Amino acid sequence: MSATSPAAVVVLAAGEGTRMKSATPKVLHELCGRSLVGHVLAAARELTPEQLVVVVGHEREKVAAHVSEIDADARTAVQAEQNGTGHAVRMGLEGLEGAVEGTVVVVCGDTPLLTGETLKDLAGTHEADGNAVTVLTAEVPDATGYGRIVREEATGAVTAIVEHKDATEAQRAIREINSGVFAFDGRLLVEALGQVRTDNSQGEEYLTDVLGILREAGHRVGASVARDHREIAGINNRVQLSEARRILNDRLLERAMLAGVTVVDPASTWVDVTVTFGQDATVLPSTQLHGKTHIAEGAVVGPNTRLTDTRVGAGARVDNTVADSAEIGPQASVGPFAYLRPGSRLGVKSKIGTFVETKNSSIGEATKVPHLSYVGDATIGDFTNIGAASVFVNYDGEAKHHSVVGSHCKTGSDNMFVAPVTVGDGAYTAAGSVITKDVPAGSLAVARGQQRNIEGWVARKRPGSAAAKAAEAASRNPGSEG
Ligand code: UD1
Ligand code: MG
Repeated sequence: MSATSPAAVVVLAAGEGTRMKSATPKVLHELCGRSLVGHVLAAARELTPEQLVVVVGHEREKVAAHVSEIDADARTAVQAEQNGTGHAVRMGLEGLEGAVEGTVVVVCGDTPLLTGETLKDLAGTHEADGNAVTVLTAEVPDATGYGRIVREEATGAVTAIVEHKDATEAQRAIREINSGVFAFDGRLLVEALGQVRTDNSQGEEYLTDVLGILREAGHRVGASVARDHREIAGINNRVQLSEARRILNDRLLERAMLAGVTVVDPASTWVDVTVTFGQDATVLPSTQLHGKTHIAEGAVVGPNTRLTDTRVGAGARVDNTVADSAEIGPQASVGPFAYLRPGSRLGVKSKIGTFVETKNSSIGEATKVPHLSYVGDATIGDFTNIGAASVFVNYDGEAKHHSVVGSHCKTGSDNMFVAPVTVGDGAYTAAGSVITKDVPAGSLAVARGQQRNIEGWVARKRPGSAAAKAAEAASRNPGSEG
C-alpha cells in the first residue's frame, strides 16, 4: 500500500545501549557498511518525509555529528535525560519546524533490519484506515522484554500495549509484540503525549501509552503486522549485532544472486549495502566487499579477497587480493597475493601478479607487473613488462616522487627505479640495474657493477670442502656441469 509522504519521521536514538559494553554509542555500531542509525535513516528516507529528526541524548555530540555527516537534511533534537520513549518523541517533535500536521512516523535507531517497504506498508495502512495511530507489530518466537499487544477478544481490535515489566502472567503469554515503530496523526500525537503519565515500573513516559489514551478518547487505533518478524529486531548487545549482520548480509547476497550473480559460498562472503554487481559476476569463498565496490559483468573475485571502494572491470580476475580505492580494468588479472593501495589504476588486460604492491600508480593496457614488485607513484604505459623483483623507489626519506615508464618497454628483473626518473618508450633495462638517470626511448640502460670471476678461489680458500671437491670433479669432467 502506498501512502503520501509523511509530514515527519522521528528517529529515537538517545538511549545509552549499556548492554553493548562499548565506548562507542550503540547506534554508531556498524554492520554491512553502515551504522545502526544509518540503516534506519536509509529506510526512513524511502518514505520521503517532509522533515526527519533524530532524537539524541547519550553521547549526543558524537551521534549528532555522525547523523549530519550521513544525512545533511536530518535535524537533531536533544533529549538531555532519558525519561522514556514518550518523552523522547516529545523532544523530537519540538525539534521540528512548524506545527505537526499529517502523519508522523516514529522509529527506533537500533533496528537496522527494518526496510523502507515495511515502513511504506505501515504508513499506507495508517492512512487508508484513517487511524489515529497504527503500530507495527510482529509475532516473535520469544517475546521476553518486549511490549505486548493486547487485543480485544471479540473484535481483535488493539486496546493497549503493555510493557514486559508491567505485564501480568497472562499478558506475558502474548507473542505479538510492539516493534517500537508507529505511524501517528501528528496533531493527536501531540495532544496525547501531553497526557502520558509516569506511574509505571520504570517511572518513564511511555510512548506506548499514547495508544490507550487515543483509543479511550474514541479514536481509531490499528496495527500492521510485519511480514518478517526478524525485520523489527532491536539490537541490544553484540550477539544480536552479529545475528543482524548475518541476516542483512544474507538478504544482500540473495538479492545479488537473484539478479544474476554467482556467490559460491554465502556463508563466507560479506558485503556492504553499497556494493554493486554486474550480471554474471562471480564471488568465490572468503571474500569481503566493502564501500562502493563494484564488480562488473563476468568478473571473478576471490577466493580470500578484500576489496574496499574498488571497481573491478568486466571479465577481470582478482584472486587472493586486498585492494582499497583501486580501479581494475576490464579483463585485467590481479593476484594471487596482490595488494592494491589507493590510487592504483590498472588498464585493460593488464596484469598484477604475485606479491606485488601498487599505490597511486597507473598501469597501462596489457602491461604486466608479474612478480615480487612495488609500484608506487608511477605511470607505466601500454604493453610494457616490468621484470620480477622491481621497486619504484618513490621515497627519499622526506618526499614522494613520481616515475614514468613508457609503452612497449621491457625492464629487467631486480630493477630499482629511483624517482623521479623517466624510461622512454620502447626502452630496455638490464637486470639488476639501479636506474637513477632518465633512459631515452629505444635505448638499453645498464646500471650495475661489472662481474669479476676469481678463478681457483674455492680450492685456495676452502680446500677440502664439499664445494672444492665438486669444483675439482667438474674440472676433470669439463662440459658436464649442470
Ligand atoms: C520499547 C517499547 C516496547 C517495544 C520495544 C521494541 C516503550 C515504553 N517500550 O521498549 O514496547 O516492544 O521498544 O524494541 O516504548 N529511547 C530514547 N529516549 C528514552 C528512551 C528510549 O531515545 O528516554 C530510544 C532508545 O535509544 C531506543 C528506543 O528509544 O532506540 C527504544 O528504547 P528502549 O529503551 O530500547 O525501549 P525498550 O525497553 O526496548
Ligand atoms: Mg530496546
